[in-house]
Amino acid sequence: MDTIFTHKTVLLNATVNALVARDFNAKEEWVHLPVPSAKVDGVFVDGTFGRGGHSRYLLSHLSESAKLFVFDKDPLAIQEAQRLQQQDQRVHIIHDGFSTMQEALKEHGIEKVQGILLDLGISSPQIDDASRGFSFMKEGPLDMRMDTTRGITAQEWLETADINEIKEVIKNYGEERFAFQIAKAIENRRKSSPLRTTLELAELVSATVRTREKGQHPATRTFQAIRIYLNEELEELSRTLASILNLLAPEGRMAIISFHSLEDRLVKQFIAKAVNPAAAISRHLPLRESEMPQALLKSFGKIVATKQEVEENPRSRSAVLRVAERTEVEQ
Ligand SMILES: C[S@@+](CC[C@H](N)C(=O)[O-])C[C@H]1O[C@@H](n2cnc3c(N)ncnc32)[C@H](O)[C@@H]1O
Repeated sequence: MDTIFTHKTVLLNATVNALVARDFNAKEEWVHLPVPSAKVDGVFVDGTFGRGGHSRYLLSHLSESAKLFVFDKDPLAIQEAQRLQQQDQRVHIIHDGFSTMQEALKEHGIEKVQGILLDLGISSPQIDDASRGFSFMKEGPLDMRMDTTRGITAQEWLETADINEIKEVIKNYGEERFAFQIAKAIENRRKSSPLRTTLELAELVSATVRTREKGQHPATRTFQAIRIYLNEELEELSRTLASILNLLAPEGRMAIISFHSLEDRLVKQFIAKAVNPAAAISRHLPLRESEMPQALLKSFGKIVATKQEVEENPRSRSAVLRVAERTEVEQ
């Protein structure tokens, strides 16, 4: 049963404003202004539908002829999108990773879009539902797949992966100092009996990692790492960023909400490179000003949640929203 789990959308006003409001230049404007009442036309993409918090609000600012393509890997998110589609024919659903957006939109005859939203990571229903295996606080099977219809579970991976690979994943995707010790403990444990549940893994990590960061469960980083790896979260993001410049129409906007530094770094570097492509060219090349590559994106900066939003929705604590607009320059 999914209905008891709800998701509180983060940075709702600022994100939708960033996508639909026109005639603003400074960050202060899109963060604080109410979303304009004039309806906006065009094609928009919500790459991470979740429970549709952003999508619903965005739709209320789109014209009757606009289209909203929504993606999610999670079958339960797709069910929710289907419920929305029954009430609103502007919604088009794709049950797949958002990195497939360029090809998927092409199949619908769409080459350019006016706005792309990504609210990365997992939703509250995914964490709160113990049977999904994302939470180290609740007993459940070690699954951790966003898309439960394909791919291998965390249990299968922990049983079969090379121990060096497990160490590298925990180190790189969890930025965990004790990755080696944790991987070793997993190796020892699986010689006697397989790790089957979330609490078994959480307890194993707690027993191995003595040092704790203030207020953080010792297994936080390990769970984050396995989840990022199994769901190919960083690869999905990198592939999508690579296609965003092609997909966005001139003046089209991208709004991306990240929840940890690995994601945010990718988004930040991508925007910085597109804002100033000339920086990548050697100073020693004899290029005239007119031959230098021009900006492909204009950045509207980043924001984080206000103190009030964090109090009302603790999940917004680590959210960083970055916004940029496509220029007219061809790639
Ligand atoms: C933070 S939630 C989005 C919440 C949504 N904005 C709302 O207000 O309800 C992230 C959602 O994106 C999905 N997701 C994460 N990475 C994805 C990817 N690469 N492709 C498709 N869906 C993804 C997850 O399954 C989850 O449902």
